[in-house]
Amino acid sequence: MAVKAVIMAAGQGTRMKSDLPKVLHLVAGRPMIQWVVDAARGVGVDQIMVVVGFGAEAVASALPDDVDTCLQSEQLGTGHAVQIAIEALGDVSSHTVLVLSGDTPLLQSAALKALVEPNGPDRPAAALLTAEVPDPDGYGRVLRDEQGQVVGVVEHKDATAGQLAINEINAGIYAFDGARLVEGLRSLTNDNSQNEYYLTDVIGYLANQGLAMSGVKTDIGEVAGVNSQAHLADAGAVMRRRIAVDWMENGVWIQDLDQVFISADTVIEPGAQLYAGVQLQGACHVGAGAQVGPDVFAVDSRIGPRSVVTYSVIRDSAVGADVRVGPYASLRSGVVLEAGSKVGTFVEMKNTNLGEGATVAHLSYMGDANIGPDTNIGAGAITCNYDGVDKHRTEIGARVLIGSDTMLVAPVTVGDDAMTGAGSTISRNVSARALAVGRAAQREIAGYADRIDKRRKAKEERS
Ligand code: UD1
Ligand code: CA
Repeated sequence: MAVKAVIMAAGQGTRMKSDLPKVLHLVAGRPMIQWVVDAARGVGVDQIMVVVGFGAEAVASALPDDVDTCLQSEQLGTGHAVQIAIEALGDVSSHTVLVLSGDTPLLQSAALKALVEPNGPDRPAAALLTAEVPDPDGYGRVLRDEQGQVVGVVEHKDATAGQLAINEINAGIYAFDGARLVEGLRSLTNDNSQNEYYLTDVIGYLANQGLAMSGVKTDIGEVAGVNSQAHLADAGAVMRRRIAVDWMENGVWIQDLDQVFISADTVIEPGAQLYAGVQLQGACHVGAGAQVGPDVFAVDSRIGPRSVVTYSVIRDSAVGADVRVGPYASLRSGVVLEAGSKVGTFVEMKNTNLGEGATVAHLSYMGDANIGPDTNIGAGAITCNYDGVDKHRTEIGARVLIGSDTMLVAPVTVGDDAMTGAGSTISRNVSARALAVGRAAQREIAGYADRIDKRRKAKEERS
């Protein structure tokens, strides 16, 4: 039977103590709800309907275009949320309806497949995921009869002392026969301790009709809801490990699984090596044989094959093949390091293109610059790119030697094969193959130490 999915995501998530709607908190760099959408997609659903309420616009705009939303303006309970979704979906009588929550980011498609299969005449009217847990506090409890058949779910707040002792919990993830779901929703009342329309009451209603229910036990680790910042961190840790293990299975070497963070949208080629303390955020790409870390923070950047990057920060930049970066370099944004180039210790770069084989080895700032191939920027050289009002570019040709501590006052151009003297302030263009020196001429005062000695002696005699 074809499957449609409903994802409930209208609640605020007050325990997060955050203005951000709960389902938009990030797990491994993606909003929680996106993980749930992906899990639903993995089952091959033909429509996904997300119920939005708190922060409706923000949630809706975080969703992919092919996901539909419907508005539950007042949160009257999970049963009410699904009612609204069904109105938006239209006729579901020939569908299985998968009902999920937006706050279970660790859910995987395999568990959902177990719910929507088996198909055919034996298909239960409803199947739900359950888990046995040592501490069922707060969850709905699964009620079974003597034969072990599921006959209902009772909410924690409505449970008797005997029911509270049950440690099989309702994970809040279901696959309903569409027609039966509609029938069950019609039967709901809010006559309970929370005055809410409980989706869970549909299970009891259908069981009462003598229909078969199926409770599929799963691991709580996969279905646990995120309700607090601590839960979010726990889910993040599980996801981080999952992603790292996936890349390891693909031939990536990782020094310490618990000390790398790889966003869901990062791609790593086999043979790359990640040392401890690496964070790859946004959409990064790491080439084969690259060595990254220890302690590298990269966002939306590329690190080319065989490049070595240590103790550095890289944002919105592209490091080519066979490049060395760091230790302690900061590529702020818009930096392109071409093949075989080198950026060394305490170097900051922004909007700069460093040509093939060129080096900026020590203590420099290169901003808004073009640096040609095989050029060497000496220690401490700086592009003075800002005049207090506007930014200007520095153009440096091929095979140039920029002397240590050169100040390049932009806009300025240095021709191919030119040189600048150490300590120069270069504010006019330098011709190709020329040496430019822009510093005070050195002068010498002979015997200056004698004058100092005299002054010291005079001072001693006064005291
Ligand atoms: C629900 C189940 C409980 C189960 C638990 C698993 C009910 C009545 N109870 O309880 O048996 O053990 O999940 O985590 O269903 N939501 C809406 N609109 C609403 C109410 C909720 O969209 O009017 C959304 C929430 O944003 C959330 C999800 O539905 O994503 C679950 O709601 P929540 O209030 O967390 O239900 P629980 O009390 O945890
Ligand atoms: Ca919950």
